Amino acid sequence: MIVLRIFIKKHILLAVCGGIAAYKSAELVRCLIKKNCDVRVIMTASAGKFITPLTFQALSRHPVQTQLLDTEQENAMGHINLARWADKIIIAPASANIIAKLAHGLADDLVSTLCLAAECPVYIAPAMNQAMWHKSITQNNIKTLQQNGFELIAPSEGILACGEFGVGRMSEPSIIYQSLINSSPASDLYLKGVHLLISAGPTREALDPVRYMTNRSSGKMGYALAQAGIDAGAKVTLISGPVALSAPMGVQLIMVETAEEMFQAVVLAAKNHQIYIGAAAVADYTFAVQPQKIKKQQSSLQLTLHKTKDILASVALLPQRPFVVGFAAETHELVRYAQEKLINKKLDMIAANWVGKAEGGFDDRQNALHVFWEKGSSQLPMMDKKDLAVQLITLIFERYQKKYALKG
Ligand code: PMT
Repeated sequence: MIVLRIFIKKHILLAVCGGIAAYKSAELVRCLIKKNCDVRVIMTASAGKFITPLTFQALSRHPVQTQLLDTEQENAMGHINLARWADKIIIAPASANIIAKLAHGLADDLVSTLCLAAECPVYIAPAMNQAMWHKSITQNNIKTLQQNGFELIAPSEGILACGEFGVGRMSEPSIIYQSLINSSPASDLYLKGVHLLISAGPTREALDPVRYMTNRSSGKMGYALAQAGIDAGAKVTLISGPVALSAPMGVQLIMVETAEEMFQAVVLAAKNHQIYIGAAAVADYTFAVQPQKIKKQQSSLQLTLHKTKDILASVALLPQRPFVVGFAAETHELVRYAQEKLINKKLDMIAANWVGKAEGGFDDRQNALHVFWEKGSSQLPMMDKKDLAVQLITLIFERYQKKYALKG
């Protein structure tokens, strides 16, 4: 079954504040327009020092407002009208100054006044120096805004405009776009009608009746994907290895233990699903199980391991294959190995993550992904696995739509 998402023209109001990252907001406008959104732009006075209103006017095809009281505009699209017009407001970049103003209910310029007057969801994509971001006063302001219903699109880590390294880079336009589109109400159940199959968690390979081999997967990434799928309206089947998590409500859960059991369950279910995401950490090797407990005897013990069946590659070879998304967990040469797996296993997409580092990968609450497909890639920076899952599901659905739209 092919499900194509119909985009209803959304009214997005972009508020640009002063900061080097303002140039990225031009890309955000392009991104939104491409996705059939109607975009209006307002700017603070300091934003105009980094990028001209003309750029945004040309991209959005609407005049850009910079003044709170503009006699001409007040007759047409004054700040109250504009606040009512918007389905969503995004402040990008959001400077420490506007964050502080909004947290305290100030309304002394166009952006702060309009946000105070707004009744629609307001998103903030902060960009600032890492020390400013980490200051408790800024963090308290962010908390206040979140408690008051503002949505945070967290800044990422990297080299900042000032040359320092740390958290403070504005999120990439594609991430901001996805957050804006994803967090839509029920009308945006874009996976409605799609049957999504996800494998999660580790497998356990028994050596004898008392011992087994496993890995560090907690299942958090796969379970977060299942939740994101449910939230987007999909019918989700989750095939899980042994984990200490409860399955999201509405998910059809199938618990397995070994790689062979996971293989059987996934291959059987794959025929009835449109998308398969292999987020499980499946054992590559297993033992020939010993019927009795192996007794301690010699100073060393040699064990023979046998290769398990590759689930992803097998699903990709099914005559009526779903759209197949793999993961790659690597301790080195992440990009090369991920791209090899994409090709060798005949996948539609692969999401690569570092494992064995201090942050991200196995068991951590957070993760970052480098996602590849035949002619493209996208980087999703370090964030909570729940947010990451929402963004990955969106990306997968975009590619899925493209593949089947192309095939007609
Ligand atoms: O569970 P968490 O603690 O949240 O951690 C998340 C994670 C790190 C486990 C997850 O993000 C992840 O990377 N999952 C895949 C782990 C893995 O086994 O990667 P791999 O590079 O060894 O395998 C590549 C792909 O082949 C994976 O999609 C895997 O599911 C699949 N595979 C592997 C072996 C096998 N026999 N059959 C398979 O289908």
